[in-house]
Amino acid sequence: PIAQRRARTYMSAMLDRSHNAPELPPEIARRRTFAIISHPDAGKTTLTEKFLLYGGAIQMAGQVRAKGEARRTRSDFMQMEKDRGISVSASAMSFDFDGHRFNLVDTPGHSDFSEDTYRTLTAVDAAIMVIDGAKGVESQTQKLFEVCRLRDLPILTFCNKMDRESRDTLEIIDEIQENLAIDVTPASWPIGVGRDFLGCYDVLNDRLELMDRADRNKVAESIKIEGLDDPKLADHVPAHLLEQLREELEMARELLPAFDREAFLDGTLTPIWFGSAINSFGVQELMDGIAKYGPEPQPQRATPRAISPDEKKVMGYVFKVQANMDPKHRDRVAFVRLASGHFKRGMKLTHVRTKKPMAISNPVLFLASDRELAEEAYAGDIIGIPNHGQLRIGDTLTEGEDIRVTGIPSFAPELLQGVRAGDPMKAKHLEKALMQFAEEGAAKVFKPAIGSGFIVGVVGALQFEVLASRIELEYGLPVRFDASQFTSARWVTGPKLELDKFVNANKQHISYDHDGDPVFLTRLQWDIDRIERDYPELTLSATKEMH
Ligand code: G4P
Repeated sequence: PIAQRRARTYMSAMLDRSHNAPELPPEIARRRTFAIISHPDAGKTTLTEKFLLYGGAIQMAGQVRAKGEARRTRSDFMQMEKDRGISVSASAMSFDFDGHRFNLVDTPGHSDFSEDTYRTLTAVDAAIMVIDGAKGVESQTQKLFEVCRLRDLPILTFCNKMDRESRDTLEIIDEIQENLAIDVTPASWPIGVGRDFLGCYDVLNDRLELMDRADRNKVAESIKIEGLDDPKLADHVPAHLLEQLREELEMARELLPAFDREAFLDGTLTPIWFGSAINSFGVQELMDGIAKYGPEPQPQRATPRAISPDEKKVMGYVFKVQANMDPKHRDRVAFVRLASGHFKRGMKLTHVRTKKPMAISNPVLFLASDRELAEEAYAGDIIGIPNHGQLRIGDTLTEGEDIRVTGIPSFAPELLQGVRAGDPMKAKHLEKALMQFAEEGAAKVFKPAIGSGFIVGVVGALQFEVLASRIELEYGLPVRFDASQFTSARWVTGPKLELDKFVNANKQHISYDHDGDPVFLTRLQWDIDRIERDYPELTLSATKEMH
């Protein structure tokens, strides 16, 4: 199989996934923490809404989906937002389904590959890949998939919009296998296409699922079938479609691997469901799939040792920081993924980086259903901790142990620009604003060793515009970005003497990041090679662990 030929990534080699250890306590074992990845317009929002609907978190469809700006306030049902005036948006949503607790973590929607996306995916144990049945694997799907692959995340695939004209089923599967180098196994098989689309044959459970076109919110009629020779099939499926279904499934059985849970959990095999989110079709089967096949909360890489979800002591790490969109409050919410233990409101945890205790008295738990502040959380859950900037991305919280979560890197920016306040008297304000964005992870901010001003680094060009408008909006500061002479940044580490010597000899190229760590800026790969040759004791790195 294609997927098994690919080299294991260094990330996976470092973490031994002892998936689904049967001894996990039931409260933890029932948790499913995942994200949805897709190309814009494939149906992520619609699918999310149906999840919440079946999770009992919303009463009717239409509450999540809203046009334009209003879309951002999906989480209106969260009383917390109103009480505190904190806009946390729908970064994480929890709901119950069939005895399981689902934690759905939102991946940022913008099209640039960003660290934000990468880090969001460090907080989940699995991902659902939504593709449009007419369009197949699109560019953004591919990018996000590659990020999931870095961590060998198990992927469940949902092929959406089957109520419309869509591509041939085998062709879609083939495209996924070819473009993404992952094995695909059908969890369901569509019957008919476009206007003739009847529903699906549920391959995993031998059931016939029939779509109700008249009522978009009605869940499919489900009919138990004893295999493809069951005469009952003919009562519901016209002869020509039935013949086609039998042929296609036979071909699929010959050409495609059967479902194998280990391969799924290793991220080398993805089960695919066909459905139509807007017609509520195939969604529950997908949810059943997550509930039944997992994965459960996974061990977390950390130094000096990995964290197992069943450890008694509470440990968690910050994977995202969201600053308040309301300029009157400078509060931020740190999103913490609990790696282990049973967290209770009011607990005192140690902030490992500063070694200071923190009483977590006002955690936001993103329980979608009851609009209440939940009082507890378990490994696998996401909690929001309002703070004034102490909590940064990559920070670990423990009950005292000196342990730091790893694998939440910061990436060297690929675009660098100088930034200046429109009003030179406001330089100090600008510095403050920039530092906030740096801590939030929205941009890299470098202070040159020589001269004034700052250099801002981002991964996607659009981020400069976003930053400029946020600085203006949230700090009332008009800013100007100018071209910078540099195009690459590398963090420099090594023995102090050698590092000092290097810094002094290359002052024009040295800046300091928001932690005060030295960074070498250049426009030439040649420079980087030269330094590696001339200063063998130093390491130049395009990533930095954030802790
Ligand atoms: P996104 O979050 O991935 O960007 O996708 P979103 O759910 O917003 O869906 C994009 C469009 O596709 C929406 O149409 C939505 O209604 C439609 N859609 C989602 N699922 C299905 C499906 O199963 N079948 C069909 N035919 N369409 C689907 P829109 O025109 O942008 O909005 P609206 O007019 O429906 O509100």
